[in-house]
Formats: sequence, structure tokens, C-alpha cells
Amino acid sequence: MSLHPLRTSRPLAGKVILVTGGSAGIGRATAQVLAARGTVVAIADIDEAPGIATALALCEAGGRASFHRMDVRDSTQVQATLQEIVRLHGRLDGAFNNAGVLEGLFLASAEQDEITWSRVIDVNLTGVWRCMKHEIPLMLAQGGGVIVNHASVAGLYANRLVGAAYIASKHGVVGLTKAAALEYAAQGLRINAVCPGIIDETSMSEVIFGGDAEREAQVKALYPVGRVGTLAEVAEAVAWLFSDATSFITGHALPIDGGLLAA
Ligand SMILES: NC(=O)c1ccc[n+]([C@@H]2O[C@H](COP(=O)([O-])OP(=O)(O)OC[C@H]3O[C@@H](n4cnc5c(N)ncnc54)[C@H](O)[C@@H]3O)[C@@H](O)[C@H]2O)c1
Repeated sequence: MSLHPLRTSRPLAGKVILVTGGSAGIGRATAQVLAARGTVVAIADIDEAPGIATALALCEAGGRASFHRMDVRDSTQVQATLQEIVRLHGRLDGAFNNAGVLEGLFLASAEQDEITWSRVIDVNLTGVWRCMKHEIPLMLAQGGGVIVNHASVAGLYANRLVGAAYIASKHGVVGLTKAAALEYAAQGLRINAVCPGIIDETSMSEVIFGGDAEREAQVKALYPVGRVGTLAEVAEAVAWLFSDATSFITGHALPIDGGLLAA
């Protein structure tokens, strides 16, 4: 009987992966985990100073990283950034389409204003599609690649915490992920979404908790594990989806939610 070959301990070594929204929060934490595993990380964000600082810190820690100023609302910038990444690093093996905004929360659907609604959809949903539009041809030309889109538990169920625009945008990300996964599965592309619950120490959890300890305790009590998630818990799941250990997983929307959706 022959055993399955053991996987390398650095399964992401040498791969070139784009992280949009990598200047802060979950994107930055994921960039750190990927770089520690030997990935060449291209951080793209509208927020330049922390993005440059993150890329420099990754390089100083022995990793390889670059920063690219890019607004996911602008197709020309997205296309130019991807061309720059390929010029700089030679290829594109993966993309974490993570950039997102949380606005219009605490407002019922009829109370949402058009400007906020359009901005949330434009960044969270159309932004992911714009990135995929320019990532997919590069990956197809190389014979394959892996895309992880950032949805949310709000892409899988509605709640009264984050508002209809955000919920609609994240449901859209899950639908887009599944549609594209079907379209490109036979051509070597794997496309999945991660769906975290609330993650501590992010700008979004701060907005949701609103500096109100009682509200924070109530929200945390919604989670069967009795707490919200950590940056590392999302970053590790994303890194795992990029690895060959998940070579049979595509079109999946993965809850990272301490059991919230099992209830
Ligand atoms: N924090 C949470 O609790 C939570 C839970 C579930 C899902 N998410 C999702 O995780 C992703 C990251 O959120 P976070 O909590 O790390 O937020 P964050 O605000 O800390 O980071 C978001 C990053 O995206 C960047 N960004 C925003 N608009 C952009 C644009 N137009 N173009 C390029 N970059 C842009 C910001 O500059 C920032 O660096 C989002 O898609 C969010 O919806 C967050």
C-alpha cells in the first residue's frame, strides 16, 4: 500500500498573492500570515501610508512584499495594478479580494440614502467583481490560480446589526463567488468566499460595538463560543484556502463564526 505524499510545510512558498484592502484589519493580518509562509504579498489599498508601512515591515521580517495604491472602485486602477504586480513579481497565483466598507448600518432599508447604498455596493460587491475581471485572465493564461473573496456571515443570513446595503453586498459576493467558481472550475481556477462573523480589533467591530460595553457584551453573547473572532482566525482560514490542501474546494462560502450560523 502506498501512502499519500506528505505536503510541504511551506505550501505557499514562492506564490504571488494580491491582498486588496491590505493596509489594515483582516487584510493586513492575512498579508502577515501569507508572508510568514513564504508568499510574495502584493498589498493594494487606497490608504497609502499604512500599506507602505505594512509592506516594509513584512520585508524587514524577511518576507517579500510590495504596496500598490489602488481603489477597487476604479477599473483602470485595478487593471494597472495587476499589470504592475505581474511586471514586478512575474506572475499572479492568488488574490484575496478583501477591501470593503461598512456604512449605512442601523438604518432600515427605506432609510438608506442612495449615495451610501451605491458606495457600499460599489466597493464591496462591484469592487470584488472588478478585481476578478482583471485577475481571472492572468490566472487563466498561467493555467490556474486561487481567488478568495471576502463576504461575511452577513452574506449568508440577514441581521439587524449591519444594515441592508452591507447585507445585500455580501450576499452578492457569495453569489458572484459561486457563479464564477462554476464558470472556471474546469480551467484550473478555485474561487471561494470567507464569511466571518464579527472580528475583534477591527474598525468594523468598533463601529458595531459603538463604544458601548453593554452592547458589546450583548453582541458577543450571540456567538455560541461566547466571543467574537480574532484577526488570526480569519487570516489562517484564508491562507488555508490558498493552499493545495484545499485543492478540491471551490464555490464554497466558508463561515468563520464560532458556531453562529449553526444555531
Ligand atoms: N471586521 C469584521 O468584523 C468583518 C466581519 C466580516 C467580514 N468583514 C469583511 O472583511 C473585509 C475587511 O474588513 P476589516 O474589518 O479588515 O476593515 P478595515 O476597515 O480595517 O480594512 C478595510 C481596508 O480596505 C481598504 N479599502 C476601503 N475601501 C477601499 C477601496 N475603495 N479600494 C481599496 N481599498 C479600500 C481600507 O483602506 C482598509 O485598509 C471587508 O470586506 C469586510 O466587509 C469584516
